[in-house]
Amino acid sequence: MDTVVSGIRSTGNLHLGNYFGMVRNAVKMQYENKCYFFIADYHSLTTHPNPVDLHMNIKQVMAEYLACGIDPDIATLFIQSDVPEVCELYLLLNMNAYIGELERTTSFKEKVRKQPENVNAGLLTYPVLMAADIIIHRANKVPVGKDQEQHLEMTRKFARRFNTMHKVNYFPEPEAYNFGEELIKIPGLDGSGKMGKSEGNGIFLVDEPKTIRKKVMRAVTDTGPEKQGQEPSEPVKNLFTLMEVMSDPGTVEYFREKHASCEIRYGDMKKQLAEDMINFTTPIRERINEIMSDNNYLSKVVREGAEKARESAGKTMRDVREIIGYRSF
Ligand code: TRP
Repeated sequence: MDTVVSGIRSTGNLHLGNYFGMVRNAVKMQYENKCYFFIADYHSLTTHPNPVDLHMNIKQVMAEYLACGIDPDIATLFIQSDVPEVCELYLLLNMNAYIGELERTTSFKEKVRKQPENVNAGLLTYPVLMAADIIIHRANKVPVGKDQEQHLEMTRKFARRFNTMHKVNYFPEPEAYNFGEELIKIPGLDGSGKMGKSEGNGIFLVDEPKTIRKKVMRAVTDTGPEKQGQEPSEPVKNLFTLMEVMSDPGTVEYFREKHASCEIRYGDMKKQLAEDMINFTTPIRERINEIMSDNNYLSKVVREGAEKARESAGKTMRDVREIIGYRSF
């Protein structure tokens, strides 16, 4: 059985793109692996959030992942800052992380460009903290997107460096978790690309029905097919893709035929799509809201998650201290 670690960014609500991408896979993964899912709330300090926002974001993310089906009795779901052991490993790894290699990291260079007014040491050592998150549970698999591949590469380097330096074979070198064909790409409503956080392009799991209707009705289309059997344009293709995920096959077929015979009315198609999205998201939204108003449940989940995570992290740190030479007399 593999040990999986996955860090969840603590900003931004989940949208359908996240749901059919990472989240649904995380839910599946928990049954087949030993999973550690955590909210990366130390990492989020690099942008200096205020205390109220920080707290509310953590709560919201927790509620959303639980509502989507992460089972805290099966996976270990926790908040990063509840596990101080990770800070100790971060400090130790920092002694063997070189300024040059950290400065060359793509994500760091991007931050320097985007926020020159806040280039802090936390940003520079972000990959070291991420490595600590992963290897503290001696994970061998990490589900990451393209943008995190370099960080995972650095994690392997730091793990290897520790092993070599101390002539041990203690930390596994974690690999990317391969989703294979299972990742469904969800397009946005703006005609191109994939669903993201930007306004108007995404449908969030917490969106109310009237918001969903408004967003879908504003989705980009075209002026309509001009000849029979014509391929749909890019924005219309995207709507069909969304419909394939959200609606039943008969509905998709109906609108495909209407398009092929040039009789399609995009307004009708959007109305249908919006209702199917509402049907899909409503139970999840209700569950999110239910969890958000149940502080007893949330604090139980968080407490038990921290306990399980600290047990695993604590064991690693006892070994690491011994290996490094912090020994009792
Ligand atoms: N850097 C990751 C992101 O931006 C979040 C993260 C932090 C993470 N620590 C991690 C992901 C450990 C996987 C494993 O999405």
